[in-house]
Amino acid sequence: MRRWAAFSTMSVVMIVGFALVVPVGQAADAAKELAAKYILATAKAARTVYVKGVVADVSKGGLKPNEDWVKDDHGVMLPAQFVKEVGKELKEFDLSLVGTDPLYASNAAKSAKEKEMLAELAKGKEKLIVAEDGGTTIGMAADYAIVDSCADCHNNHPKTTKKDWKKGDFMGAIIVRLK
Ligand code: HEC
Repeated sequence: MRRWAAFSTMSVVMIVGFALVVPVGQAADAAKELAAKYILATAKAARTVYVKGVVADVSKGGLKPNEDWVKDDHGVMLPAQFVKEVGKELKEFDLSLVGTDPLYASNAAKSAKEKEMLAELAKGKEKLIVAEDGGTTIGMAADYAIVDSCADCHNNHPKTTKKDWKKGDFMGAIIVRLK
């Protein structure tokens, strides 16, 4: 009888143990998913403030966004460069941009999963998606050519591989990669 008691106690401990461990495992992913969403929301907000506040304001004084802003005393960085510059300051995780037809190789999808995620966003049903990619949590917030100038500048860029962007097109995403 004692043995039985010990056995059943052990079983109960094991079952309760599993019940605890399994949700904890899921909770870790849920926490990373939430973190990815918050980071993307913050990055989008920062870019909006940069566009509506800084770029719009300095334009009145004759300064313009210019990819070569470092060399141009009358140029400020492009919004895309602003997001990438913020990302460069971060050591804790990767924050950058990813494009379906990127101007630069550094903005290309880095894995099959990332390509799959871009294809998913391109369907237009979701604006933000998070997925696991071999131990890295990837979050993407969709980027659309909301104004003509998005399409125009990309179509005319010397590095472009696509010259028929038009207003409304899905172009890529702000991406966060969390280890
Ligand atoms: C004046 C030119 C210009 C305008 C306007 C512009 N972009 Fe870009 N965009 C660039 C350049 C240059 C890069 C690459 C920056 C880098 O990686 O250093 C870029 C990068 C990107 C990327 C990353 C993928 C890639 O193509 O390399 C996305 C996505 C993107 N832009 C979307 C947009 C959207 C959406 C808009 C409008 C809201 C927009 N861009 C407006 C020049 C522009």
